Amino acid sequence: MSEKAHLTIGDKTYDLDVTIGTENEKCVDIQKLRKESGYITMDPGYGNTGSCYSSITYVDGDKGILRYRGYPIEEIAEKATFVEVAYLILYGELPNVKQLRAFRESISEHAALHTNLEHHFSGFPKTSPPMAILSAMLNLISCFHPEVLEVHSEGPEFDRTVALLLSKVRTISAFSYRMAAGKPFNHPNPNLSYCSNFLHMMFSDPYREYVASPVIVKALNLFLVLHADHEQNCSTSTVRVVGSSRANLFSSVAAGVCALWGPLHGGANAAVIKMLEDIKTSGRPLSQYLDMAKDKENDYKLMGFGHRVYKNFDPRSLIMKKQVYKVLEELHQDDPLLEVALELEEETLKDSYFVERNLYPNVDFYSGILLRAIGIPLNMYTVLFAIGRMPGWISNWRELLEHKQRLSRPRQIYTGEATRNFVPLAAR
Ligand code: SDX
Repeated sequence: MSEKAHLTIGDKTYDLDVTIGTENEKCVDIQKLRKESGYITMDPGYGNTGSCYSSITYVDGDKGILRYRGYPIEEIAEKATFVEVAYLILYGELPNVKQLRAFRESISEHAALHTNLEHHFSGFPKTSPPMAILSAMLNLISCFHPEVLEVHSEGPEFDRTVALLLSKVRTISAFSYRMAAGKPFNHPNPNLSYCSNFLHMMFSDPYREYVASPVIVKALNLFLVLHADHEQNCSTSTVRVVGSSRANLFSSVAAGVCALWGPLHGGANAAVIKMLEDIKTSGRPLSQYLDMAKDKENDYKLMGFGHRVYKNFDPRSLIMKKQVYKVLEELHQDDPLLEVALELEEETLKDSYFVERNLYPNVDFYSGILLRAIGIPLNMYTVLFAIGRMPGWISNWRELLEHKQRLSRPRQIYTGEATRNFVPLAAR
């Protein structure tokens, strides 16, 4: 007999189904509660609300565990390329040699942008934030490839659309940077790997072809792998909410980009660097920054710290930190911001405010230092997060269709005026 939870309100008791996940995560299913009792549950920010069943990514925030399709992030980060990880997240299994080759070829095939889509870049002011361009351009893709609007969650058309999106997000991102820098576009080179091709499109010039060092390619690959999915985070939930209306994949991921942009989510990677630069140049002691972050009258937060799910180290931040040391050493570089970051981490880990609230460095804390080391400009950091997150967004969009997820439509408790009569203008 399946387990039940019992909720008593007044003199009535309601039996609620209990479900258990693969890793023993427990859930009380309240879907029928309102119908049976008239009560809704309240959970602003959805801190205690499951919105779906998913078989893509597992996070245990108390233990600091992250797995893609069952594979620990530590192993994936060490052994897999981003393209392999994308395949794994999208199709549930690691690709064999033949599948990987076909997937890579398909991604290469779709790298170029429709010429008329390319022309749209010239309409943006040079100062345009690349995240705005990315979101707009992703939405625009369907104007140039109307066939993608008909795509469902499986079959060759879906496979083609996935490759198209993974490929075009990279080209659009690089072009947004070139446009802002007033430089000509570099068209994709099919002989290059996913990361090398991105770096080529970003940094090659007519007079000098950019050839990325293996250290830089590896570091970028790791950055993308670590961002590939993270279950029901704000942007992925946004993709699911938009997709739940059966909006097409491109609109859904364009909305994901918008959600990611904010500094509480993906925008934190750039905000961390601004914070570290401010600490370094202001000459103010670290304790002042900690005090500001602790002050409840002040909205100031330490960027790159804290997480909705992790109440322990974010495993990605540990991997990222190690990689930062490695890359700086291999490139014979020094970054004064790393010193500031290390000092800040040390101070927070012994400060009772941060200890009591389990606030640890998250994925964004060291990622900006990694991107700085490999020459990525600050305004592209969150764009890089978006490229990395694309497999997760697509996979969640697909899963919601496969599961026939209901339209996302939360309830509310109304706290406004009770009924009153309309007052004519002359009487107001
Ligand atoms: C990402 O969800 C995901 O999976 C996201 C992500 C992914 O891969 O998709 O992992 C990527 O978005 C990482 C997060 C990046 N954002 C930041 O680094 C911004 C700084 N951090 C925060 O503002 C905050 O920690 C959040 C937004 C990340 C999480 O917010 P929550 O879950 O709503 O946390 P909370 O408000 O419940 O915090 C609990 C307490 C509060 O204090 P009290 O009211 O209990 O006294 O901790 C405090 C918060 O004020 N707190 C912080 C803090 N983060 C939380 N205090 C100071 N500095 C901080 N950074």
